[in-house]
Amino acid sequence: MQFAIRPKIHGYDTFAAFEQANAVGPRDLIFTQRILHETFFAQTQAQTLFYDDFCGGEPTDTAVDAMLIEVRSRDFDRLIAIGGGSILDCAKVLALDSNDTVASLFASGVQPERKVELILSPTTCGTGSEVTCVSVFDFPEIGSKIGKGFDAGFADHAVLIDELLSKIPYQIFATSSADALVHALEIYLAPKANAYTDVFCLAATRSLLQGYMRIVEFGPSVIQEDAKAYLAASNMAGIALANVLAGGVHAIAMHFGSEHHVPHGEATRLFLPSVFKTYYEKVPTGKIANIAQLIEEVLGPCRPGRTPFDVLDALLAKVVPTQRLSGYGMDASDADRYADKVIETQQRLLVNNYTPLSKADIVQVYNQLM
Ligand SMILES: [Fe+2]
Repeated sequence: MQFAIRPKIHGYDTFAAFEQANAVGPRDLIFTQRILHETFFAQTQAQTLFYDDFCGGEPTDTAVDAMLIEVRSRDFDRLIAIGGGSILDCAKVLALDSNDTVASLFASGVQPERKVELILSPTTCGTGSEVTCVSVFDFPEIGSKIGKGFDAGFADHAVLIDELLSKIPYQIFATSSADALVHALEIYLAPKANAYTDVFCLAATRSLLQGYMRIVEFGPSVIQEDAKAYLAASNMAGIALANVLAGGVHAIAMHFGSEHHVPHGEATRLFLPSVFKTYYEKVPTGKIANIAQLIEEVLGPCRPGRTPFDVLDALLAKVVPTQRLSGYGMDASDADRYADKVIETQQRLLVNNYTPLSKADIVQVYNQLM
């Protein structure tokens, strides 16, 4: 067993407070999106580099190669990345001391040192990328997303700034926070979980569920009041993720998201209830009973004939609505082939399942959602 929290974690109410406390100036390079720059820190004295000048959606290897060329031509001491998981993932690579391309950097055993100080500040509340060392890029020539952990990818500082959540579109809030919930729940049940990851997973789960209950009661406007809690919860789930990988929900979602171009958080949220209902049917005792108890504590007791995971499913349907799988373009006849593909390509994640999922179990998950 081992457990580490690598970056030092800081919290600020506003960008101005962060900027003042850290004397942000011309020797800093802020890597972000244009809209965030315009909205929150247009007056900064730091140099800027905009993700959207290189990439429209999730990052590809060629887009990051172009970013690397630009960054290597700049003179700066600190890289400050402010954005969602894609931007933070790119920054981990942009801060490396190397002249290699992304493809070369992703080769087995390549682990460059870091060239500059690295600060990562999330503007969604989900991926936990600010506290992990992993970068995930799409490699269109291979036809797959690939993740790599860089030893030097851990930031020096993870900075949680409440203000940066103040303009988040609801759909991005909903799916990114649901991804954090999936991280917390999957890692809590993973065979490699330990007493330390358990603490972070349970705290994150309780906080996210309480937040969702408040949204149901008071409406989406409470998200801003709860920004600090959401940032902390997704960060805690990220700390767990930096120590133990996620499991079957992510395995099925990784394939489905790639096949049907569904954003990561939406794909993981989509499969969470069905996979957990399957786990609960197969092995209702053990650690999943603790989650069931926690759900009842926060969401209220179940009516006869319903399990806590039915209640969780109903809550998610209200707060993070999704479509049936057919709505994303899946056909019922695809289930068998998709299950084979998940088993073939996602063993890295499937080994972290609470209890083994057979091919029939995975097909049943698809069928429940068709
Ligand atoms: Fe995730």
